Amino acid sequence: MSLVTFAASPLVITPTVRSFTFSPPIRRSNNTVMSAVRSEATSTCPVLTKFKKDCATPTPFLRDVANAIADDMQAGLAVHGGGDLEMILTYVDALPSGKEEGLFYALDLGGTNFRVRSVQLGGEEERVVATKSEQLSIPQKLMIGTSEELFGFIASKLADFVAKEEPGRFRLDQGRKREIGFTFSFPVNQTSIDSGTLIKWTKGFNVSGMEGKNVVACLNEAMEAHGLDMRVSALVNDGVGTLAGARYWDKDVMAGVILGTGTNACYVEQKHAIPKLQNQSSSGTTIINTEWGGFSKCLPRTIFDQEMDKDSLNPGEHLYEKMISGMYLGEIVRRVLLHMCQTSDLFGQAVPAKLETPLALKSQDLCKMQEDNTDDLSSVGSILYNIFEVKADLKDRRRVMEVCDTVVKRGGRLAGAGIVAILERIERETKRLASGQRTVVAMDGALYEKYPQYRQYMQDALVELLGDELASHVQIKHTKDVSGLGAALLAATNSIY
Ligand code: BGC
Repeated sequence: MSLVTFAASPLVITPTVRSFTFSPPIRRSNNTVMSAVRSEATSTCPVLTKFKKDCATPTPFLRDVANAIADDMQAGLAVHGGGDLEMILTYVDALPSGKEEGLFYALDLGGTNFRVRSVQLGGEEERVVATKSEQLSIPQKLMIGTSEELFGFIASKLADFVAKEEPGRFRLDQGRKREIGFTFSFPVNQTSIDSGTLIKWTKGFNVSGMEGKNVVACLNEAMEAHGLDMRVSALVNDGVGTLAGARYWDKDVMAGVILGTGTNACYVEQKHAIPKLQNQSSSGTTIINTEWGGFSKCLPRTIFDQEMDKDSLNPGEHLYEKMISGMYLGEIVRRVLLHMCQTSDLFGQAVPAKLETPLALKSQDLCKMQEDNTDDLSSVGSILYNIFEVKADLKDRRRVMEVCDTVVKRGGRLAGAGIVAILERIERETKRLASGQRTVVAMDGALYEKYPQYRQYMQDALVELLGDELASHVQIKHTKDVSGLGAALLAATNSIY
């Protein structure tokens, strides 16, 4: 089996978002899971047994999920709003060729961090001559403030960045404006390569009054206010940026997948296979941004998923994302543990107050616990103590591990089913895998990068569904932070000069 995943770096704390609005857990009401009153201590844990059963994703079930995603892809390609997946036309018909030249910029807004990058491109021979980037975390209040505040912040940081530019390394050709590829990692109804309106916020963002607004116009206004004479030449999703950046180095890249705070997949589609592409040339290929996070059918959703969704900033939306991406895995585990605590003897007699804090547990905490291979699970014990101030005995530690593994396994396997749906869609038109052609999925995102068990579960599902032979031609390639380069390259491809 030659399916390759690229080695991940050692665990580093990944950024997570703390911007859910959660109502406090209600005790003593009969109709919510959080309401359960602690029962007498029991030696077995019915909650855990049921949870594991409800989260199971055997191969035939995953096959149904992959087929349902494929059906929604087809429906979304047929008509706007045809299925759960938006299947957004990105207007990216030409991927980077390697010949791009000049100085271009990338702005990246999409998670807890904001990044700005400059790239000096030197054409086919020299490729990336120089690049420089800066990353800043987005203050929490800006994620739920006004568009003027958010874009004002971005423009001011961009102005600082440009002011510090070293003229020796970066050269803007005479008569040209500085051109930007703007990676905006939220669902956008793209109206051209350089404009698009926000469909909805995800991942804990909820900036008021922006839905339906042209995000490039918002950025332009803010840049003007900051005296910045720059032009947005490409508006791209992070999945598209990842695909484009990875394709610059590797011609076999056919899809870009993000598994981080949020999740998404973008891929190369044949134009003739897109019925909704009316009045446009139907030859050649284009990139589709699936927005697969919106998938919602036949998912193994438990009461814990339902309640987390209800308390989120975007209830009822992005349900697949809420089962597979980094922002949510820790929170699902916390909710299960709280319920176990309320209904059995987990963590002793009292329910620890900290266990009731929304988002107290992060996906990187789950990962650290799953890395513990000591006999007495000592680091699980200290992590639980540090986060929840509980003294967990070995039985408790084992139960906690079971909950973590159940949630991570379900997430990784469902993500694998999604990737299979994308690969099979590509295969329908190209027969690449059947003819033994290497097919690369460019992957980015901290969850994938830093969580080995998650990666393994994802990969297992992929092989189970595709079979050894086809899977042996697939490469999941970890292409860290390549979306900024991709955005800059697409700005170059779409330069007006
Ligand atoms: C957004 C996508 C984005 C993904 C990964 C999702 O919440 O809807 O547009 O690509 O997160 O950042």
